[in-house]
Amino acid sequence: MSKIVETEVLIVGAGPAGAMASLLLSQYGVKNLLINKFSSTSPGPRSHITNQRTMEILRDMGLEEKAKSLSTSQAYMADQVYAESLVGEEFGRIRAWQNHPTRKAEHDLASPTSVCDLPQLYFEPMVIQSAMHRGSDVRFSTEYLSHVQDAEGVTSTMRDLVSGVEFQVRSNYLIGADGARSKVATDINLSFEGQMAEGEAGAINVEFTADLSRYVDHRRGDMYMILQPGTGVRGNGMSVLRMVRPWSHWVAILGYDLASGPPALDDVSATAIVHKLIGAADVEVKINAVSSWTHNRVYASGNSLKRVFCVGDAVHRHAPLAGLGLNTSVQDSYNLCWKIAHVLKKHAGEGLLRSYEAERAPIAKRIVEYASDCRIPLRGMFEQLRLPMRPTGENFSACLESLKAKTPEGAAMRASVQKAIEGTVAGFGGGYGVEMNQRYTSGAVAHDGSSDPGFPRDRATYYESSSRPGAHLPHAWLTHNQHRVSTLDLCGAGKFTLLTGLSGQGWIETAEAASKELGLPIDVHVIGPGQKYQDVYGDFSKVSEIAEEGALLVRPDMYIAWRAQSSSSESLNGLLPALKGVLSR
Ligand code: FDA
Repeated sequence: MSKIVETEVLIVGAGPAGAMASLLLSQYGVKNLLINKFSSTSPGPRSHITNQRTMEILRDMGLEEKAKSLSTSQAYMADQVYAESLVGEEFGRIRAWQNHPTRKAEHDLASPTSVCDLPQLYFEPMVIQSAMHRGSDVRFSTEYLSHVQDAEGVTSTMRDLVSGVEFQVRSNYLIGADGARSKVATDINLSFEGQMAEGEAGAINVEFTADLSRYVDHRRGDMYMILQPGTGVRGNGMSVLRMVRPWSHWVAILGYDLASGPPALDDVSATAIVHKLIGAADVEVKINAVSSWTHNRVYASGNSLKRVFCVGDAVHRHAPLAGLGLNTSVQDSYNLCWKIAHVLKKHAGEGLLRSYEAERAPIAKRIVEYASDCRIPLRGMFEQLRLPMRPTGENFSACLESLKAKTPEGAAMRASVQKAIEGTVAGFGGGYGVEMNQRYTSGAVAHDGSSDPGFPRDRATYYESSSRPGAHLPHAWLTHNQHRVSTLDLCGAGKFTLLTGLSGQGWIETAEAASKELGLPIDVHVIGPGQKYQDVYGDFSKVSEIAEEGALLVRPDMYIAWRAQSSSSESLNGLLPALKGVLSR
């Protein structure tokens, strides 16, 4: 065994969760080693939907513009078409990913950034490159084998897969970002609820290049749902043509029976299926890769043990519907890494680290259940079309005929099919509240005694902005030198921030005193006329839900740690104890 490598944090797995953890830790000045057993980043497109909360994290890391340049914009994710083929009859469309005008307004008001379609293929290298620029030590072809932890740290054993040599890493903390078959999660005995490979169907991805512009450019969307006999999931007729790059790079997603395993597809048979889905055999198609995956419905009830923390698919595994996988994985790391940095810098006590489980384990459960349940409306659509699970060509002809019948039965069927199609939006951006309403209750939130206003509208569907401790900082456009900046732009970067209005001057001195006593950097911003930041639209005064003299204390991950409604001496005196509580000091 060679010498022991020392680092502050060892991160196992360089997928989105691990890469982001490495970037964040390097940004926060924490030495880290990121290892990955494969020799490269994800060769396939995998995840696409990059939601606003993830884009906000990238914005905090200065990567928003880079991410946008690598992605396809929201406008190209608009029309989700249900059709018998790209040239065939349409059953209907939904406006996906907050592209319905009413949802678009809500989307634009909620955040300074936008959902986009950024394939994992591009996401991973972007984040890893940026992490390396900031000092991360990244090693591919390196496999985690085991670890032991003691009161001071963790000793992990790795194997260099190039030389075959084993070596050890000694770190203060270990992050298991090693995906759906996480060895780290197994090694700390996390208990899981649910089931891998749920149901009777798995899915096959056929990645291909073909210019499909003439079939789709007039109805731009990122997924074309194809219902036709013979090709689809469990033979029930549903396949997907999934855009990777408009309109030349695609994935055809097909179903297979789990019991019999994925069928072997060579280039000829894969091309024939793609032609069938397009509805034209004269399109030039180049098959790039064929792979298979299953619909999992699994979450860990806890996510950590002492000095070891698991993030990402290691602790939540679910269907790609609703596009929550990569997003939740990256957001786990955003929650965890500032806490580790604060503990290592002695700005916080180790108790702060326990809030990671309290805050993120309930989110894992919620997103797994939501994403898995998104399959129900898709099945419902088949019921309304009165199609059996394995429809024949005859079944399809009868279905299309009934849909076109000029009879009361035809009208009733059209109405119920339309409703069923609308219901499928749950899996394609309809769960906006699931993405945006993640709220925390833990020791890292100091409650202000206010009662919980709850969710007046459906929590999974609509975003409800709130500045109550435990909620995400509401976005409002402010100005700086006449240029627009978001409230979010004043916060983050690994630091605590205090926001107040012009008559909240008392907070400056109070925050300075707290900062000095705790040895903790706190940024203070007074928002108002004559100040660096101005509330010219009056939006901050509304979404902050505090009086002008009040204050919002914002954590480095943009969550409200504490708030005060006034700058009375009682309120001012509340800041230090609140910070001490949040930081476990
Ligand atoms: P991930 O599996 O990506 O990475 C784990 C890494 O750990 C791997 O690189 C692996 O090599 C490494 N590793 C494993 N064991 C190791 C060991 N012992 N030693 C060293 N390294 C080890 N999500 C989303 O948000 N929006 C979307 O639109 C979609 N769409 C989508 C479509 C399809 C078809 C799939 C299959 C998945 C999605 N997803 C998604 C989900 C998304 O791809 C997934 O949630 C993330 O990749 C999870 O990221 P992690 O970093 O947690 O694991």
